[in-house]
Amino acid sequence: MVGKSSKYVFLLAAVLALSPAGGLAATKKVAKKTVKAPVVEAPEAAPANKPVVTQISAAIAALKADPETGRQINGVCAACHGDSGQGGKKGEYPRLAGQNVEYLMGQLHKFKGRNRSNMPMFPYTEERELPDEDIVHISAYLASIKLDTAYPVFKDTDDALTRLQATEKVLNIPRSEGDIEAGAKRYKSECASCHGHTGMGKRAVPMLTGQYTVYLKRQIDKFIKGERLHDEDEKDTSKELLSQLKPEEIRDILAYLTTLDD
Ligand code: HEC
Ligand code: HEC
Repeated sequence: MVGKSSKYVFLLAAVLALSPAGGLAATKKVAKKTVKAPVVEAPEAAPANKPVVTQISAAIAALKADPETGRQINGVCAACHGDSGQGGKKGEYPRLAGQNVEYLMGQLHKFKGRNRSNMPMFPYTEERELPDEDIVHISAYLASIKLDTAYPVFKDTDDALTRLQATEKVLNIPRSEGDIEAGAKRYKSECASCHGHTGMGKRAVPMLTGQYTVYLKRQIDKFIKGERLHDEDEKDTSKELLSQLKPEEIRDILAYLTTLDD
């Protein structure tokens, strides 16, 4: 009796697996996986408002990413990070434009793998929304956007829209309070070895120059509290470099960084 019923269960399972319903579910699952990230066309996507994409570095070019796909994905990101990846709300949303491509890809993988928490971005980084190949397209697209740091000189004939669109692509971080000279010294001795002498970072090390002070400070606080890891191989946050600096020393470094994008 026992043997008979288990044989029946086996048969039933086999029938279910082979039934059209089972087959359909399987195809659906496959189809779901290949669904592209939702493409939300930014209403302002007129050619004139396309971000300025200038010289593309070898690292970006090597990825062979599709700029058009990147631009389309950016429609989703633009709601928070701005049309040109310039960030927003004074640093609540960080600047992404011109950030190092390897760093951008790394962070998106961290968000996706829940290795860096980010509640606002949670729904945008799930596998279905942001498959790995889209991470390449969007990162290459954002990394290749160049933002100006000074306002252009307008011609009398430039209309209000042209002026507005041009000013949106300008990002100059306002000076923050602190001892710039002391900050420069500390930055050069403690940070420049990785973040570079001009604060531009390299590969998986982010550029700090041209990033919002409020955002940088928030990340520093997270590193100190252990909510984010500055060094992946160092889980002991008391050994964290930034935990060893006094608040005024951090303030001075941040003040110095605001002078680097002038
Ligand atoms: C709902 C708002 C929102 C949307 C939409 C959004 N982000 Fe973000 N993103 C944030 C916030 C907030 C942070 C900063 C989190 C923090 O303070 O740690 C962030 C951080 C990031 C960072 C880390 C930057 C750094 O310097 O470490 C990257 C990279 C990023 N977002 C990429 C994207 C991409 C690509 C998209 C579109 C696919 C996107 N974001 C869509 C809100 C958003
Ligand atoms: C040993 C190399 C190294 C040194 C030294 C270093 N950093 Fe970093 N820093 C990194 C790396 C790598 C990351 C990216 C971490 C990640 O993947 O999340 C980073 C990220 C950051 C971020 C977050 C940026 C963003 O866009 O989210 C800030 C802020 C920062 N560092 C500030 C500093 C300051 C200030 C100093 C000097 C006191 C410093 N770092 C020294 C390697 C370093």
